[in-house]
Amino acid sequence: MDYSVKTDSVNRFTGSDDYVVSDELMYATNIAIALQKPLLLKGEPGTGKTMLAHAIAKSTGKKLYVWSVKSTTKASEGLYIYDTVQRLYDSQFGEGDVGDIRKYIKLGRLGETFLSDEQVILLIDEIDKADLEFPNDLLWELDQMEYYIPETKETVKAKHRPIVVITSNAEKELPDAFLRRCIFHYIEFPSPEIMTDIVAVHFPDLEEKLLRSAMERFYWIRSLKDIQKKPSTSELLDWLQALVISGISVEKLKTEIPYMGVLLKKNQDIAELFRAKEIESRRFDVRR
Ligand SMILES: Nc1ncnc2c1ncn2[C@@H]1O[C@H](COP(=O)(O)OP(=O)(O)OP(=O)(O)O)[C@@H](O)[C@H]1O
Ligand SMILES: [Mg+2]
Repeated sequence: MDYSVKTDSVNRFTGSDDYVVSDELMYATNIAIALQKPLLLKGEPGTGKTMLAHAIAKSTGKKLYVWSVKSTTKASEGLYIYDTVQRLYDSQFGEGDVGDIRKYIKLGRLGETFLSDEQVILLIDEIDKADLEFPNDLLWELDQMEYYIPETKETVKAKHRPIVVITSNAEKELPDAFLRRCIFHYIEFPSPEIMTDIVAVHFPDLEEKLLRSAMERFYWIRSLKDIQKKPSTSELLDWLQALVISGISVEKLKTEIPYMGVLLKKNQDIAELFRAKEIESRRFDVRR
């Protein structure tokens, strides 16, 4: 089904040469841009949530501002911080005009995008890392695209509403009032076909047989039901690189899984892999 958005090409995301995008993700992105609402992306780690914002920037030629959320991040910091320490310091050591409060207002990532003369892209990365108040506190600013600075009694209004991309790792539920304002898209873990395209972007010259064997192994590991932390796209890419630089042959991949630690990061998962491999090789021996 074709759900393409009929907008001008400047504001349309058409993908980029280093990012593989499904039609559904492309439609969701373009409808979010057209409706001027934040695009909220969820999905397993490594499914390209952060990369999408970079790809939109590349495709539209707009500047990208990245606001990486930490557990201690407060929404107000994204707008501005009032540097009272510097002001106190200046007042004690006689530096500059301390009466000019505006000098001590330091803009945050969101605040900066409001002042830009052109429309920009704002990535609010990993919103679920902050506490639940964080998205609630952003509601007004994201809706109205303005904020008030009590210290200077000024209201700052965005010159252009930025294209907002928000990522979340699906661990925490976000408040309903926040969800209501977003366009939501869940990035599914790539199918082997899409993964082959993603790998091709990163390793265009990879030997086909090696890729096929490595992919088979990778999806087999992901299918083991007792694996707690399934390897992601970025781990597959790292693993392929490890196989290439160490010259591992396709033959070896049939019986061994070299550099397991690139794919699996938990003792229990590595033990589970050994167990599964043992069962697999016994079955293989019986068949022979
Ligand atoms: N669709 C894609 N096209 C090209 N490369 C991709 C794609 N999806 C993932 N990758 C690659 O996988 C890696 C992880 O992508 P990214 O950091 O965007 O994932 P993420 O979903 O933000 O993960 P996390 O939740 O851990 O932050 C990147 O190096 C990126 O190059
Ligand atoms: Mg990310």
